[in-house]
Amino acid sequence: MAINHMMVVGSGQMGSGIAQVCAQSGYHVYLYDANKNALDKGMEGVRKRLTKAVEKTRISEHEKQNTMDLLQPVTDIDSVRECDLAIEAIVENLDAKTSLFNELDARAPDHAILATNTSSLPITEMAAATNRPEQFIGMHFMNPVPVMKLVEVIRGLQTSDATYQAVEAMATDLSKSPVEVDDAPAFAANRILMPMINEAIFAVHEGVASVEDVDTVMTLGMNHPMGPMTLADFIGLDTCLYIMEVLYDGYNDSKYRPCPLLKKYVHAGWLGKKAGRGFYQYD
Ligand code: CAA
Repeated sequence: MAINHMMVVGSGQMGSGIAQVCAQSGYHVYLYDANKNALDKGMEGVRKRLTKAVEKTRISEHEKQNTMDLLQPVTDIDSVRECDLAIEAIVENLDAKTSLFNELDARAPDHAILATNTSSLPITEMAAATNRPEQFIGMHFMNPVPVMKLVEVIRGLQTSDATYQAVEAMATDLSKSPVEVDDAPAFAANRILMPMINEAIFAVHEGVASVEDVDTVMTLGMNHPMGPMTLADFIGLDTCLYIMEVLYDGYNDSKYRPCPLLKKYVHAGWLGKKAGRGFYQYD
Protein backbone atom coordinates (compact mmCIF):
# COMPACT_ATOMS: atom_id res chain seq x y z
CA MET A 1 0.00 0.00 0.00
CA ALA A 2 1.59 3.26 -1.12
CA ILE A 3 1.44 6.23 1.22
CA ASN A 4 1.82 9.59 -0.54
CA HIS A 5 -0.72 11.96 0.95
CA MET A 6 -1.26 12.13 4.66
CA MET A 7 -2.79 14.18 7.44
CA VAL A 8 -1.39 14.90 10.88
CA VAL A 9 -4.15 15.83 13.30
CA GLY A 10 -3.15 18.20 16.10
CA SER A 11 -0.48 20.87 15.67
CA GLY A 12 1.09 20.80 19.13
CA GLN A 13 4.71 19.90 19.82
CA MET A 14 4.30 16.26 18.73
CA GLY A 15 1.95 16.85 15.79
CA SER A 16 4.00 19.65 14.26
CA GLY A 17 7.18 17.60 14.72
CA ILE A 18 5.61 14.58 13.01
CA ALA A 19 4.31 16.76 10.16
CA GLN A 20 7.79 18.25 9.74
CA VAL A 21 9.67 14.95 9.48
CA CYS A 22 7.05 13.54 7.09
CA ALA A 23 7.26 16.59 4.79
CA GLN A 24 11.07 16.49 4.98
CA SER A 25 10.87 12.91 3.71
CA GLY A 26 8.79 13.94 0.70
CA TYR A 27 5.23 13.17 1.85
CA HIS A 28 2.39 15.58 1.05
CA VAL A 29 1.20 16.54 4.50
CA TYR A 30 -1.93 18.30 5.67
CA LEU A 31 -1.38 19.59 9.19
CA TYR A 32 -4.88 19.86 10.63
CA ASP A 33 -5.98 21.67 13.74
CA ALA A 34 -9.46 23.07 14.34
CA ASN A 35 -7.84 25.87 16.33
CA LYS A 36 -6.30 28.41 13.92
CA ASN A 37 -4.02 29.92 16.58
CA ALA A 38 -2.63 26.51 17.49
CA LEU A 39 -2.16 25.73 13.81
CA ASP A 40 -0.24 28.98 13.21
CA LYS A 41 1.93 28.25 16.24
CA GLY A 42 2.65 24.72 14.99
CA MET A 43 3.62 25.97 11.52
CA GLU A 44 5.79 28.70 13.02
CA GLY A 45 7.58 26.04 15.08
CA VAL A 46 8.34 24.02 11.93
CA ARG A 47 9.58 27.13 10.11
CA LYS A 48 11.86 28.08 13.02
CA ARG A 49 13.34 24.58 13.33
CA LEU A 50 14.01 24.42 9.58
CA THR A 51 15.57 27.90 9.58
CA LYS A 52 17.85 26.81 12.43
CA ALA A 53 18.76 23.67 10.48
CA VAL A 54 19.68 25.82 7.45
CA GLU A 55 21.81 28.10 9.66
CA LYS A 56 23.65 25.03 10.95
CA THR A 57 24.07 23.88 7.32
CA ARG A 58 22.31 20.59 8.14
CA ILE A 59 19.82 21.24 5.32
CA SER A 60 19.84 23.59 2.33
CA GLU A 61 17.51 26.56 1.80
CA HIS A 62 16.06 24.56 -1.12
CA GLU A 63 15.23 21.60 1.19
CA LYS A 64 13.59 23.96 3.67
CA GLN A 65 11.46 25.47 0.89
CA ASN A 66 10.56 22.01 -0.45
CA THR A 67 9.45 20.93 3.02
CA MET A 68 7.33 24.03 3.55
CA ASP A 69 5.76 23.50 0.09
CA LEU A 70 4.78 19.94 1.00
CA LEU A 71 3.26 21.02 4.30
CA GLN A 72 -0.21 22.52 4.10
CA PRO A 73 -1.99 23.81 7.22
CA VAL A 74 -5.75 23.16 7.20
CA THR A 75 -8.62 23.84 9.59
CA ASP A 76 -11.04 21.62 7.66
CA ILE A 77 -10.88 17.91 8.49
CA ASP A 78 -12.43 17.10 5.08
CA SER A 79 -8.93 17.21 3.55
CA VAL A 80 -8.50 13.66 4.90
CA ARG A 81 -10.60 12.54 1.92
CA GLU A 82 -7.39 12.80 -0.16
CA CYS A 83 -5.17 10.93 2.32
CA ASP A 84 -3.68 7.45 2.48
CA LEU A 85 -2.77 7.84 6.16
CA ALA A 86 -3.88 10.01 9.08
CA ILE A 87 -1.76 10.27 12.23
CA GLU A 88 -3.54 11.62 15.28
CA ALA A 89 -1.56 13.65 17.85
CA ILE A 90 -4.20 15.38 19.98
CA VAL A 91 -4.76 15.47 23.74
CA GLU A 92 -4.33 12.17 25.67
CA ASN A 93 -8.02 11.60 26.27
CA LEU A 94 -9.74 8.43 25.08
CA ASP A 95 -13.14 10.08 24.45
CA ALA A 96 -11.58 12.94 22.47
CA LYS A 97 -9.52 10.53 20.39
CA THR A 98 -12.41 8.14 19.78
CA SER A 99 -14.69 10.90 18.58
CA LEU A 100 -11.94 12.27 16.31
CA PHE A 101 -11.36 8.80 14.82
CA ASN A 102 -15.10 8.51 14.14
CA GLU A 103 -14.86 11.70 12.08
CA LEU A 104 -11.73 10.56 10.25
CA ASP A 105 -13.19 7.11 9.62
CA ALA A 106 -16.32 8.61 8.06
CA ARG A 107 -14.31 10.81 5.67
CA ALA A 108 -11.08 8.97 4.82
CA PRO A 109 -10.95 6.77 1.68
CA ASP A 110 -11.56 3.05 2.26
CA HIS A 111 -7.90 2.13 1.81
CA ALA A 112 -6.59 4.72 4.30
CA ILE A 113 -4.78 3.79 7.50
CA LEU A 114 -5.62 5.53 10.77
CA ALA A 115 -2.77 5.84 13.26
CA THR A 116 -2.51 7.28 16.75
CA ASN A 117 0.54 8.80 18.42
CA THR A 118 -0.87 8.01 21.86
CA SER A 119 1.79 7.39 24.50
CA SER A 120 -0.32 4.96 26.52
CA LEU A 121 -4.01 4.62 25.54
CA PRO A 122 -5.30 1.24 24.28
CA ILE A 123 -4.99 0.83 20.50
CA THR A 124 -7.46 -2.07 20.32
CA GLU A 125 -10.20 -0.01 21.99
CA MET A 126 -9.73 2.99 19.69
CA ALA A 127 -9.59 0.67 16.65
CA ALA A 128 -12.85 -1.01 17.67
CA ALA A 129 -14.61 2.38 17.61
CA THR A 130 -13.92 2.63 13.85
CA ASN A 131 -15.18 0.59 10.91
CA ARG A 132 -11.61 -0.33 9.92
CA PRO A 133 -9.94 -1.91 12.98
CA GLU A 134 -7.60 -3.88 10.69
CA GLN A 135 -6.33 -0.55 9.27
CA PHE A 136 -5.76 1.00 12.68
CA ILE A 137 -2.36 1.15 14.41
CA GLY A 138 -0.23 2.98 16.99
CA MET A 139 2.70 5.12 15.80
CA HIS A 140 4.36 6.45 18.92
CA PHE A 141 7.04 9.06 18.15
CA MET A 142 9.39 10.41 20.82
CA ASN A 143 9.90 14.04 21.77
CA PRO A 144 11.58 15.99 20.15
CA VAL A 145 10.34 14.20 17.05
CA PRO A 146 12.89 15.65 14.58
CA VAL A 147 15.75 14.39 16.78
CA MET A 148 14.64 11.09 18.31
CA LYS A 149 15.06 8.03 16.10
CA LEU A 150 12.56 5.69 17.74
CA VAL A 151 9.00 4.97 16.66
CA GLU A 152 7.03 2.36 18.57
CA VAL A 153 4.68 0.68 16.08
CA ILE A 154 1.88 -0.79 18.13
CA ARG A 155 -0.43 -3.46 16.83
CA GLY A 156 -4.00 -3.57 18.05
CA LEU A 157 -5.61 -7.00 18.32
CA GLN A 158 -7.16 -6.63 14.85
CA THR A 159 -4.35 -4.74 13.06
CA SER A 160 -3.59 -6.49 9.76
CA ASP A 161 -0.09 -7.48 8.65
CA ALA A 162 -0.47 -5.24 5.57
CA THR A 163 -1.15 -2.23 7.80
CA TYR A 164 1.77 -3.05 10.05
CA GLN A 165 4.13 -3.46 7.09
CA ALA A 166 3.03 -0.21 5.43
CA VAL A 167 3.56 1.77 8.63
CA GLU A 168 6.85 0.08 9.46
CA ALA A 169 8.13 0.87 5.95
CA MET A 170 6.97 4.45 6.26
CA ALA A 171 8.69 4.92 9.63
CA THR A 172 11.92 3.61 8.07
CA ASP A 173 11.43 6.02 5.17
CA LEU A 174 11.33 8.84 7.74
CA SER A 175 14.84 7.69 8.82
CA LYS A 176 13.37 6.43 12.08
CA SER A 177 13.94 3.03 13.66
CA PRO A 178 10.60 1.32 14.20
CA VAL A 179 10.14 -1.34 16.88
CA GLU A 180 7.16 -3.69 16.99
CA VAL A 181 5.27 -3.46 20.26
CA ASP A 182 2.18 -5.19 21.58
CA ASP A 183 -0.86 -3.25 22.80
CA ALA A 184 -0.07 -3.40 26.54
CA PRO A 185 -0.42 -0.58 29.11
CA ALA A 186 2.02 2.25 28.27
CA PHE A 187 3.53 -0.02 25.56
CA ALA A 188 7.33 -0.53 25.94
CA ALA A 189 9.04 2.90 25.99
CA ASN A 190 6.94 4.42 28.73
CA ARG A 191 6.68 1.18 30.68
CA ILE A 192 10.44 1.36 31.11
CA LEU A 193 11.00 5.13 31.21
CA MET A 194 8.20 6.26 33.54
CA PRO A 195 8.95 3.95 36.50
CA MET A 196 12.55 5.22 36.29
CA ILE A 197 11.36 8.83 36.44
CA ASN A 198 8.86 7.97 39.20
CA GLU A 199 11.64 6.28 41.21
CA ALA A 200 13.84 9.37 40.78
CA ILE A 201 11.00 11.49 42.18
CA PHE A 202 10.66 9.04 45.11
CA ALA A 203 14.40 9.48 45.79
CA VAL A 204 13.86 13.25 46.05
CA HIS A 205 10.62 12.79 48.03
CA GLU A 206 12.38 10.58 50.59
CA GLY A 207 15.36 12.94 50.91
CA VAL A 208 17.87 10.53 49.39
CA ALA A 209 19.27 13.25 47.11
CA SER A 210 18.32 16.70 45.81
CA VAL A 211 16.65 17.30 42.43
CA GLU A 212 19.96 18.50 40.98
CA ASP A 213 21.95 15.59 42.43
CA VAL A 214 19.49 12.98 41.15
CA ASP A 215 19.98 14.48 37.69
CA THR A 216 23.76 14.49 38.11
CA VAL A 217 23.68 10.80 39.10
CA MET A 218 21.95 9.89 35.84
CA THR A 219 23.76 12.29 33.49
CA LEU A 220 27.29 11.73 34.75
CA GLY A 221 26.78 8.22 36.14
CA MET A 222 24.72 6.69 33.33
CA ASN A 223 25.43 9.07 30.43
CA HIS A 224 21.76 9.97 29.99
CA PRO A 225 21.49 13.19 27.92
CA MET A 226 19.04 14.62 30.47
CA GLY A 227 18.59 13.69 34.11
CA PRO A 228 15.18 12.21 35.05
CA MET A 229 13.98 15.34 36.87
CA THR A 230 14.81 17.55 33.87
CA LEU A 231 13.28 14.98 31.54
CA ALA A 232 10.09 14.84 33.65
CA ASP A 233 9.80 18.64 33.37
CA PHE A 234 10.45 18.40 29.62
CA ILE A 235 7.76 15.72 29.09
CA GLY A 236 5.27 17.43 31.45
CA LEU A 237 4.54 16.24 34.98
CA ASP A 238 0.83 15.80 34.16
CA THR A 239 1.79 13.43 31.33
CA CYS A 240 4.18 11.52 33.62
CA LEU A 241 1.45 11.14 36.27
CA TYR A 242 -1.10 10.12 33.67
CA ILE A 243 1.14 7.39 32.29
CA MET A 244 1.98 6.10 35.80
CA GLU A 245 -1.78 5.86 36.45
CA VAL A 246 -2.26 3.91 33.20
CA LEU A 247 0.46 1.49 34.36
CA TYR A 248 -0.92 1.24 37.91
CA ASP A 249 -4.50 0.63 36.68
CA GLY A 250 -3.43 -1.61 33.82
CA TYR A 251 -1.21 -3.98 35.83
CA ASN A 252 -2.75 -3.49 39.26
CA ASP A 253 0.74 -3.72 40.68
CA SER A 254 1.98 -1.48 43.53
CA LYS A 255 5.38 -1.12 41.87
CA TYR A 256 3.71 1.39 39.55
CA ARG A 257 2.16 3.59 42.27
CA PRO A 258 2.72 7.26 41.36
CA CYS A 259 4.96 9.11 43.81
CA PRO A 260 2.94 11.45 46.11
CA LEU A 261 5.38 14.27 45.30
CA LEU A 262 4.58 13.93 41.58
CA LYS A 263 0.85 14.15 42.40
CA LYS A 264 1.42 17.18 44.60
CA TYR A 265 3.29 19.07 41.87
CA VAL A 266 0.58 18.30 39.32
CA HIS A 267 -2.15 19.43 41.73
CA ALA A 268 -0.22 22.67 42.28
CA GLY A 269 -0.09 23.28 38.53
CA TRP A 270 3.70 22.90 38.51
CA LEU A 271 3.57 20.89 35.32
CA GLY A 272 7.15 21.36 34.18
CA LYS A 273 8.76 23.46 31.48
CA LYS A 274 5.51 24.32 29.68
CA ALA A 275 4.11 25.83 32.93
CA GLY A 276 7.31 27.73 33.75
CA ARG A 277 7.71 25.67 36.94
CA GLY A 278 8.22 22.00 37.67
CA PHE A 279 11.11 20.48 39.57
CA TYR A 280 13.03 23.41 38.14
CA GLN A 281 12.06 27.04 37.66
CA TYR A 282 12.03 28.29 34.04
CA ASP A 283 12.28 31.84 32.61
N1 CAA B 1 13.26 20.10 17.93
C1 CAA B 1 14.15 19.89 16.96
N2 CAA B 1 15.48 19.77 17.19
C2 CAA B 1 15.89 19.92 18.45
C3 CAA B 1 15.02 20.16 19.53
C4 CAA B 1 13.64 20.26 19.22
N3 CAA B 1 12.74 20.48 20.16
N4 CAA B 1 15.74 20.24 20.67
C5 CAA B 1 17.02 20.06 20.31
N5 CAA B 1 17.10 19.85 18.99
C6 CAA B 1 18.31 19.59 18.21
C7 CAA B 1 19.23 20.77 18.22
O1 CAA B 1 18.89 21.69 17.19
C8 CAA B 1 20.59 20.13 18.00
O2 CAA B 1 20.78 19.86 16.63
P1 CAA B 1 22.26 19.86 15.97
O3 CAA B 1 22.96 18.67 16.56
O4 CAA B 1 22.04 19.75 14.51
O5 CAA B 1 22.90 21.15 16.39
C9 CAA B 1 20.45 18.78 18.73
O6 CAA B 1 19.04 18.53 18.84
C10 CAA B 1 21.07 18.82 20.10
O7 CAA B 1 20.46 19.89 20.80
P2 CAA B 1 21.21 20.81 21.87
O8 CAA B 1 22.67 20.83 21.59
O9 CAA B 1 20.49 22.12 21.97
O10 CAA B 1 20.89 20.13 23.26
P3 CAA B 1 21.20 18.68 23.76
O11 CAA B 1 22.48 18.15 23.25
O12 CAA B 1 20.93 18.73 25.24
O13 CAA B 1 20.04 17.80 23.10
C11 CAA B 1 17.97 16.72 23.37
C12 CAA B 1 18.69 18.05 23.34
C13 CAA B 1 18.04 16.06 21.98
C14 CAA B 1 16.51 17.03 23.69
C15 CAA B 1 18.66 15.78 24.42
O14 CAA B 1 18.75 16.47 25.65
C16 CAA B 1 17.93 14.49 24.65
O15 CAA B 1 18.06 13.54 23.90
N6 CAA B 1 17.13 14.42 25.73
C17 CAA B 1 16.33 13.27 26.06
C18 CAA B 1 15.08 13.29 25.23
C19 CAA B 1 14.19 12.13 25.54
O16 CAA B 1 14.46 11.27 26.38
N7 CAA B 1 13.06 12.10 24.84
C20 CAA B 1 12.05 11.07 25.06
C21 CAA B 1 11.00 11.67 25.94
S1 CAA B 1 9.79 10.48 26.33
C22 CAA B 1 8.73 10.52 25.06
O17 CAA B 1 8.78 11.31 24.17
C23 CAA B 1 7.66 9.49 25.12
C24 CAA B 1 6.43 9.86 25.81
O18 CAA B 1 5.40 9.34 25.41
C25 CAA B 1 6.37 10.68 27.01
